[in-house]
Amino acid sequence: MSCHRGALIVLEGVDKAGKTTQCKKLVAALQHSGRPAEVMRFPDRTTSIGLLINSYLQKDRELEDHAIHLLFSANRWELVPSMKKKIEQGVTVVVDRYAFSGAAFTSAKQGFCLDWCKTPDVGLPKPDLVMFLKVSPAEAALRGQFGEERYETSVFQKTVQQRFEQLMKDPSVNWKVIDASKQIQDVHEDIIGHSLSAITTAQSQPIGELWK
Ligand code: TMP
Repeated sequence: MSCHRGALIVLEGVDKAGKTTQCKKLVAALQHSGRPAEVMRFPDRTTSIGLLINSYLQKDRELEDHAIHLLFSANRWELVPSMKKKIEQGVTVVVDRYAFSGAAFTSAKQGFCLDWCKTPDVGLPKPDLVMFLKVSPAEAALRGQFGEERYETSVFQKTVQQRFEQLMKDPSVNWKVIDASKQIQDVHEDIIGHSLSAITTAQSQPIGELWK
């Protein structure tokens, strides 16, 4: 077992920015270079809370907007013990979406402010690095399967992108913007570069608390 903790690395972006592909490539590259790494994703649709979220996203069930927001947050909190355990054991955890998606998506709805949306996630393990995969919502819409789930419309995604931009102004979070309109391999190389330096920095630091 490694004596250094692993890093918590998050990939964020609007829908269809390529986060899932890049998370898998990052974990594979880290493992290949002998660094223990695992992927997690939010929402995690396998838990009982996750199943509820899944039925909401697939439009099989209606849930009040505040209630679904809190369920997305609860889905992160329920996985904190296993996430922390992995990090403490030296595993770098690469996360496909996190609290930033939570705040950006709900605050893109009418009547929600960013501060209220952030509150339930205050104190979650703080990522050592958050990479925002940037593509225009119009380009994301051309990448296929757009429009099947709730939230997958260009108009909504445009507002989500604006909310992410507000979140990225927060200097307490280590944000890096990645140009995700490039070729998959070029995007991957940018991501690897940032990740390796975050992993090194994280080794000598305790796990922080988000937005505290
Ligand atoms: P996925 O396509 O990455 O599985 O994400 C599912 C959708 O849920 C996506 O449209 C973003 C949205 N979402 C929220 O609204 N709040 C959250 O906290 C998270 C993690 C995702």
